[in-house]
Amino acid sequence: MNVLVTGGAGYIGSHTCVALLEAGHSVVIADNFSNSRRDTVERIERLGGRSVKLVEGDVADERTVRELFEQNAIDGVIHFAGLKSVPESVAQPLRYYRNNVFSTVLLAAACIEHGVGKFVFSSSATVYGSNDVPYREEMELRTPTSPYGSTKLASERILTETAASAPGFAVTLLRYFNPIGAHPSGLIGDDPNGVPNNLMPYITRVARGKLEKLKVYGNDYPTPDGTGVRDYIHVCDLAEGHIAALEHARPGTQVYNLGSGSGVSVLELVEAFERVNGVKIPYEFAPRRPGDLPAYYADASRAERELGWSAKRGVDEMVRDAWNFERNL
Ligand code: WQD
Repeated sequence: MNVLVTGGAGYIGSHTCVALLEAGHSVVIADNFSNSRRDTVERIERLGGRSVKLVEGDVADERTVRELFEQNAIDGVIHFAGLKSVPESVAQPLRYYRNNVFSTVLLAAACIEHGVGKFVFSSSATVYGSNDVPYREEMELRTPTSPYGSTKLASERILTETAASAPGFAVTLLRYFNPIGAHPSGLIGDDPNGVPNNLMPYITRVARGKLEKLKVYGNDYPTPDGTGVRDYIHVCDLAEGHIAALEHARPGTQVYNLGSGSGVSVLELVEAFERVNGVKIPYEFAPRRPGDLPAYYADASRAERELGWSAKRGVDEMVRDAWNFERNL
């Protein structure tokens, strides 16, 4: 297949491009490099052993999307491109809706117009809101706690309704849990602009001495050690989930959780990082972060049953590869 990967130079996108090339697919990357780097594209080619086509542009721009579909014979789309900071989305909701939702509308419309039958969407466990754990795909979704979350939910609805109206259009919604880690080569990984919001890149910068100490947000949650529990998944496992989704696409809308299925606390992740990498992570407890949930993790059994996919890499591999990438920067 010739796959259009929007946001292909980003963290999850880049690992997915490598996995696509390894699986024998061709790749067209569309990226505006707003939170990614140009040299990632060469690294993808090096790791995947083949070249990709790069289109620098914004998929929330109608002309860019029109030209992408007119100038390339696309068989499927994986749509990653989007803004992803929860606090930034609270401050700039319209920017988030424009980028994250308008792009979905334009890409879905272009697929219908050009007869492109497969669309895989990068969604998030945030669409479950405050719900019982483990999260299961058939659960009723709750109002997300941020504009960022609302853009994911809105995109899910737009795609589901489009698939219902267009026979043959196959939509797959992938709800990610917490992707961390990096390609074992250390060539691609998570390198956010500015001070990281997310836990793993914060830890690696503390380990490197770029930040002084980790703030652990909350130690009084109803969890075994009082700190927040999440379902961390190695980004290479997540990338492989997209290949499985694309290859099992069928008309209508399919929804899959991509997680490991188990919960790990902040302190457990810090402990694993220190033990595996032999580096100390100074930390202090701080108040809970507004909007954070105490604990959630996936029921990932549907993806295993229907896609033959499950997460293979454990927490030790995740923290090893995250540190290897940081040291390589
Ligand atoms: C994980 C745990 C924090 C930073 C968010 C979005 C979600 C998704 C991924 C992506 C929590 C704790 C964190 C720190 C800490 N979106 N923590 N100190 O909050 O599960 O998910 O990012 O694109 O939609 O909501 O991930 O990595 O921020 O936090 O103690 O400096 O680490 O409280 O328990 P989260 P996270």
